[in-house]
Amino acid sequence: MTTAISGPLPDGSAHCLVADPDPDVRQALLCLLKAQGFCCQEAACGRDALDQLGNGTDLPLLVADIRLPDLDGFELLAEVRRRSPDTAVVLLSRAADSATAVECLHYGAADILLKPVSIRELRARVVRALEKRALFLQNRYYQEYLEQRIHAQASRIQEIFLQGVQMLARALEAKDSYTSGHSIRVSHYAVATARQLGFEGLDLQQIRLGGELHDIGKVGTRESLLLKPGTLTPDEVGQIREHPALGEQMLAPLAHQSPAVLRCVRSHHERVDGTGFPDRLGGSDIPIEARIIAVADSFDAMTTHRPYRAPYSVGDALAELRRVSGSQLDAKVVLAFDAVYTEVAPLVPVMS
Ligand SMILES: [Fe+2]
Repeated sequence: MTTAISGPLPDGSAHCLVADPDPDVRQALLCLLKAQGFCCQEAACGRDALDQLGNGTDLPLLVADIRLPDLDGFELLAEVRRRSPDTAVVLLSRAADSATAVECLHYGAADILLKPVSIRELRARVVRALEKRALFLQNRYYQEYLEQRIHAQASRIQEIFLQGVQMLARALEAKDSYTSGHSIRVSHYAVATARQLGFEGLDLQQIRLGGELHDIGKVGTRESLLLKPGTLTPDEVGQIREHPALGEQMLAPLAHQSPAVLRCVRSHHERVDGTGFPDRLGGSDIPIEARIIAVADSFDAMTTHRPYRAPYSVGDALAELRRVSGSQLDAKVVLAFDAVYTEVAPLVPVMS
């Protein structure tokens, strides 16, 4: 009974299969390869060799005569390639078979040696064949896994960046008791609305993040301006209106993996009638994610306390959303928000 081969062994040695019809040659080869540290098995014919090879195995080295009693070199190579594609096959040939031997090199043999085999030559060729195999495997490893590793590292870098930005957003809101929790509420309102509109998966995740970060550009706005209770001068209004573009610049590292987040940040103050900022986009030119954030942002702004006014009741805020639907806000988005507002109403700050 034969046992299918796999390698390398737990003790670090590697498997090798020697296939030769001549018992004396076979024993000489086995002695040499065992001295090289291989754990060897032997076969006197092609079928026996293939039986020992098994299927889907990873035999490092096969040393075989090019003319086995039942299989020629081409048949053996084809079958070894199918069962164990990474095996280095070193063929032993006679001078009369040199043309066939060269053909076998084209069919994937690692090397050819002429019989009678010199021990020194066999040792050198086996080392070379295994080096070639190791390089091939290493090359494939890099091809298959390097891109995956780079992607994983890029995701981790983005995750760390996001954590920093989210902490910054919290710190920004903490400065102003009136806006505390604003971004998180906007994010919840926007996600509920987006889900109602059919968003899901990663698209929904980007809207969640876009809601959390939509006002991040305000870190570049003077605190005294953000907290000013009275009417703003035109110059001050201009300064505040810089926050969407500034926020987009800050979050530029998200451009590749989360472009919708940038759209939320840049365009959440656009109006469907084209009079918003910073780009005066109108209607469907405004990214849908930003139109969703705009509704959520407006609702939260109305239902929270401000230094200059009391908060709207939920009913009054919804009425106001409907009033500006189609001029300031996207009508379809307002309808979606209307449909889910009972779901998000518990998040509305309680009036004191
Ligand atoms: Fe804003």
